[in-house]
Amino acid sequence: MDKVNGILLDTSRTESFLPPADVDALAPRVAAAAADLAARRGEGSDFLGWLDLPANLAAADFAALELAAAQARRDSEACVVVGIGGSYLGARAVLDALGHGRGAPEVIFAGTSLCASALRQVTRRLERRDFRLVVISKSGTTLEPALSFRVLRRLLEERYGTAAAAARVTAITDARRGALRELADRAGWESWPIPNDVGGRFSVLTPVGLLPLAMAGIDIRALVAGAADMRRACLTDDLRANPAHLYAASRFGLYGKGYQTEILATFHTGLATFGEWWKQLYGESEGKDGKGIFPASTVYTTDLHSLGQYLQDGRRSLLETFLVVREDAPEVVVPADPGGVEGLDGLDDLVGRRLDSINVKAYEGTRTAHVQGGVPCLALELDRLTPEAVGGLLYLFEKGVAIGGRLLGVNPFDQPGVEAYKREMFRLLGRG
Ligand code: PA5
Repeated sequence: MDKVNGILLDTSRTESFLPPADVDALAPRVAAAAADLAARRGEGSDFLGWLDLPANLAAADFAALELAAAQARRDSEACVVVGIGGSYLGARAVLDALGHGRGAPEVIFAGTSLCASALRQVTRRLERRDFRLVVISKSGTTLEPALSFRVLRRLLEERYGTAAAAARVTAITDARRGALRELADRAGWESWPIPNDVGGRFSVLTPVGLLPLAMAGIDIRALVAGAADMRRACLTDDLRANPAHLYAASRFGLYGKGYQTEILATFHTGLATFGEWWKQLYGESEGKDGKGIFPASTVYTTDLHSLGQYLQDGRRSLLETFLVVREDAPEVVVPADPGGVEGLDGLDDLVGRRLDSINVKAYEGTRTAHVQGGVPCLALELDRLTPEAVGGLLYLFEKGVAIGGRLLGVNPFDQPGVEAYKREMFRLLGRG
C-alpha cells in the first residue's frame, strides 16, 4: 500500500492470525458498504455529512473561521471550550498532537465531566487573564457542559459586565433547535451551526473542531487538506490500496476470530488524547446490539511498565493497532555522560543516538514480542506528526468505523445506549 500524507498502514503482523485470503474475501462486502455510504443508503444515512466535508469546505469557510480566531487572539489570553464527547474530543486530540501555535491564546477544555475540582481548576487558570468562552453542544441540552457554562458565564459577566461579556461568547450548536440555540439568539452571541447531517463524534472537521483549533493557532487548512487526501485515497474498491477499508476489514476479520478488544497503542505522548477521540468514535459507533470490539488505548513505553505483563501474557483476546511517529524532535540526541563518570550508567553505546530512533526500536521490539505472545498487530506509521497527517488519520478512522459498523450489521451513527445513565441520573435528581 502507498503512503498517504506520510501515513502507512501495515497489516503484515496480523497474517499469522488471519490469513490474507480471509481479508481479501471481505472485499465485496466492504465495497458494497462503501457504495451504500456513497449513495446515502442504509441505516443512519441521514448522518453522512462528514463523508465529503473535507472536499466541500471552501476558502470562504476557512477565512471566516480564521477571522473569528484572530479576534480571540486580539482580546484573549485564554479560550475556554465548553463541551463533552464529540463536542470536544476531536479538537483536543488534534491540539494535543500538534500543540498551540505561536502567539495563540491558550485553549482550555471544560464541561467534560461533573467534577467540581476540575471546574475550579479551570476558573483558577482564568484569574488575571483575559478570556472568552466557546460553548459547544449539538443538542444544546447536555448537562455537563450546560452546568459548567453557567459557572463560567457568570465569571465572564462578573469580569466584563453583561454587554461586553456577550461579545466574548461563541455558541456552536444546531442551526435551529435546542436550548443553546435559543440562548445564543436571545443574547446575541456569535454562533456557528453544526450541520444536521454530522453526528457529534464525526464533527471534528466542522466548526466544532475547526474553530477551537483555529483559535489555538493550528493550520486548519493543512489539517483539512490532509483529510481530503485521505478521502481520495479511500474511494477505491481495491481493498489493498484503501487504508480505511483495509483497516476495517482486518479488524472485522480478527473480531470474527475472537479478538474482541482493540488497543490503540501509541509511542507518542502527544497522541494520548487521539486515543480518547478514537475510543469514542469506535465505542459509540460499534458497541451496540451485543456486538462490537471494545476500544482501549495505551501510551508506550509508559504503559509497558504497567500493562505490559497483561499485554504479553494475559487473556488472549487482544488485538493491537500501533500509532507510531517515525521522526519526532530529531534534535534530541543522547549526550555523553554529563557527570564526567563515563559509562557508569551503562548507556555509552547509545551516545549520539536520536531519542526518536530509540523510540522506534522500542516500537519494533514491542511489536515482535506481542506477536510472539499471541497479539495480532496492525500499525499506522507516520513519517512525521504534521497537520496533514493528523487530518488524514481523522478521516481514515471515520471511514473505517463507518465501514466496520456496516460489516458488523449495526447502525454506526446512533448511540441509543448513552441515554440509560442519563435517565437514572435525572430520576435521582428528581428531574422526572
Ligand atoms: O457523538 C455523540 O453524539 C456524543 O458523544 C455527543 O457528542 C455528546 O454526548 C455531546 O452531545 P452534545 O453535543 O449534544 O452536547
